[in-house]
Amino acid sequence: METKHWTVSEQSFDKQAMEEAADLLRKGETIAFPTETVYGLGADATNEQAVRKIFEAKGRPSDNPLIVHVASKNQLEDLVEDVPEAAFTLLDAFSPGPITIILKSKGTVASNVSAGLDSIGIRIPSHPVGLRLLEEVGLPIAAPSANISGRPSPTKAEHVTHDLEGRIAGIMDGGPTGIGLESTVIDCTEAVPVILRPGGITAEAIEAVIGTVMIDPGLAGDEKEKPKAPGMKYTHYAPEAPLYLVEKDMQQHADKLAEDGEIVGIIATEELAQQLENERIQVCGTREDLSTVAQHLYDALRYFKKSDVSVILCESFGKQGVGAAIMNRLEKAATGSI
Ligand code: TXA
Ligand code: MG
Repeated sequence: METKHWTVSEQSFDKQAMEEAADLLRKGETIAFPTETVYGLGADATNEQAVRKIFEAKGRPSDNPLIVHVASKNQLEDLVEDVPEAAFTLLDAFSPGPITIILKSKGTVASNVSAGLDSIGIRIPSHPVGLRLLEEVGLPIAAPSANISGRPSPTKAEHVTHDLEGRIAGIMDGGPTGIGLESTVIDCTEAVPVILRPGGITAEAIEAVIGTVMIDPGLAGDEKEKPKAPGMKYTHYAPEAPLYLVEKDMQQHADKLAEDGEIVGIIATEELAQQLENERIQVCGTREDLSTVAQHLYDALRYFKKSDVSVILCESFGKQGVGAAIMNRLEKAATGSI
């Protein structure tokens, strides 16, 4: 399949590109587009065959449900039942933005979107290009991250091209995404909302508007509890060489591995990078502001290719605020910690 490419700037939306992409979506094709978190791979959520193309292009397991993206709250009525008070409050506070709210499905989307569950995740992205495309097409758009399953999510259009060129109908390049990690997924079908995936909106920010929330015990990674978001049980975000999280003494660990013949790549913040001596360091934000680490993390994970380094060492972080989402992704990507 030939993949079309458009470059669209936030300042001057290319009308023709928007119309072409929206038209392909209406015809049941898959289009990658920017959101403020990561690039998504969209298809008409009401068209089962179109949705199937997403699973095929990504190699995604069919038991992993897709988030449904809409341009406005007015579209909710068609898609979900019983929107509880907390969900309205969250939508008012954080949408458009990096939050996905799980609600009871009305069954209007194709059955393969929700992978057999009676709920669906709804998200209104705030990226001007993504949001404009959703407005143009006017349909609910199912969209997972636009990467091959298991790889780090794409934060640049070139990551999408690398993974999916020739497998999807089009890629809309709107520049690098801002947040860099996926949306927070919060289940509002329970009396007390449960965070199923930490993300762009922190637990602290959510509690400030709706009071106490639970964190899915399955996220802790022990064997007994299965995560409630099916996608959280898979190994994810993995780079092509083994990755180890390093709590301290980065230089000593790197030297030891190099002595053993390994080619060591390091992912570190500016602060740590300044203290290190190593040929291959990928700087990933600053400790002063962890949102910069979130922003650059997936690009850093993609940067080291197997041919280049034989092992990757990555600095680790505290789990407060956006640190929770960063460490959630890193722990999934990592072979272990030292
Ligand atoms: O920021 C994001 O959320 C990006 C952009 C493209 O919007 N999308 C994204 O989609 O990360 P994906 O498919 O990579 O991750 C969706 C997560 C998965 O862990 C999935 O299992 C969970 O949301 N999920 C979706 N629908 C669900 C449902 N009804 N119940 C529980 N978990 C659900
Ligand atoms: Mg994903």
